[in-house]
Amino acid sequence: MIKELMKRNITKAEREITEKRETVQNTKMRQKYHFMAETGWINDPNGLIYYKGRYHFFYQYNPYEGFWGQMHWGHAVSDDLLHWEYLPVALAPSEVYDDHPRGGCFSGSAIEHDGRLYLLYTGTANNGNGFVQTQCLAYSEDGIHFEKHQGNPVIGNPPEGFSKENFRDPKVWRHENKFYMVCGGQKDNLAAALLYTSEDLITWEFVNVLAESRGEWGYMWECPDFYPIGDKYVLMFSPMGVHDRTAVYLIGDMNYETGKFIYTASGEIDWGFDYYAPQSFLDSTGRRLAVGWANAWDWMPWWKDWGPTYRDGWCGWFNIPREIILAEDKTLQFKPIKELDQLRADELTVETCEVRNEPMKIPVSDGNIYEMQIWIDLKSTTAEVFSLILRSDGKKQTVVQFDLKNQMLGVDRNNADDWSKGTTRSPLTLANEDQMHIHIYSDQNSIELFTDDYRTIHSCNVFADKNQNQNYIAADNGILKVEKIQSWKMDI
Ligand code: FRU
Repeated sequence: MIKELMKRNITKAEREITEKRETVQNTKMRQKYHFMAETGWINDPNGLIYYKGRYHFFYQYNPYEGFWGQMHWGHAVSDDLLHWEYLPVALAPSEVYDDHPRGGCFSGSAIEHDGRLYLLYTGTANNGNGFVQTQCLAYSEDGIHFEKHQGNPVIGNPPEGFSKENFRDPKVWRHENKFYMVCGGQKDNLAAALLYTSEDLITWEFVNVLAESRGEWGYMWECPDFYPIGDKYVLMFSPMGVHDRTAVYLIGDMNYETGKFIYTASGEIDWGFDYYAPQSFLDSTGRRLAVGWANAWDWMPWWKDWGPTYRDGWCGWFNIPREIILAEDKTLQFKPIKELDQLRADELTVETCEVRNEPMKIPVSDGNIYEMQIWIDLKSTTAEVFSLILRSDGKKQTVVQFDLKNQMLGVDRNNADDWSKGTTRSPLTLANEDQMHIHIYSDQNSIELFTDDYRTIHSCNVFADKNQNQNYIAADNGILKVEKIQSWKMDI
């Protein structure tokens, strides 16, 4: 039985969604194949799980306007990760531990136990003692209606010396016969991942600081996620206070005896401006998938705003889901899920050709909503730099520059639209000396670009007009040898 106040708050939120649904859905800037909320504001993916035969996505949600506000958990289900059915809001702020007007039910995760679906989330409150974050539990018998645990919070205080204001985003998993949870924490203004264990999801015991920053990884880790992959363990998080880093991973070995994770390498999950708080989950076939929020926060040094869609009563979407793969060299690859191939329509192909200074138009049946793959023959290419000019109307455009000589990649969206600004830059590994493969997903307001065998990724939002539908490739001083280009319109 759902407690009265939460039930009332969910009903209120649902009424708001129903009132606005049709208007919002008919607005011009809605994404076509990215996951969005029906109306209102969305940020982090929460509680991603394959439960009783369907994918469940929950999300940080403000149903009342296209801006962040008091956080609810939105909820949707899918059979294929492409088509979604929205379910009632799963969690609404209602209790003294999660009802702060600038707080609410913050991020967390889901786990199945004895057939029930459990959610662990951060309650954010302020009862006169400053901002307080605690870890709370909710559960459901049917996977739709949730009840908050009577004894919440299940973790009321961080370990001695850790900040109460920066104690959030529990990610839960099972290892052998116990539950474990990692939570973002902070001590002496430095970030930490805190490891807890439990036998019943209710009583939690602090184990150890799983890993921590000495400054190089910032002052707080939002949405930490920890999982085994092959013979390694991975800790992913979104660090606060490391300039333009938005999502990173550490890879190494886990010692469950001590609760310590020793990492030996690190990597950037995405170099773009618009990939944050990714959460991973396992599907029924054992794939580990990650989903991120395609936007950024106002505390980031380069941040401008969240884009213009708030005018239409909504804001935010998830990046396309990616499968996480451990490569032989023990780095991670993030590959767009193969389900997306089902959306391909109107395939167009360009076979071997040479491109010079004069931009060559890339044929795409829908120049806005598309997938594109490009293969470059590096051996016979003499140009030191080449560019992709995307979502262009001849004046406005997003320019992706591949600097082969200096091994650099840049995505320049300063002239992408009337809205965005900034350039994202990353090294290019050029792992394969003979050939370069580039994979692009473009939707109404976004470009996601993958290269270096899915190790170098830039996700950037661009709020380009419908008539910005031309896409080109051009070389600088020399010949660019294109082996093949394939494009598809994405049809959902
Ligand atoms: C990350 C985050 C989380 C928090 C949530 C609030 O984007 O700041 O740390 O739980 O968003 O909406």
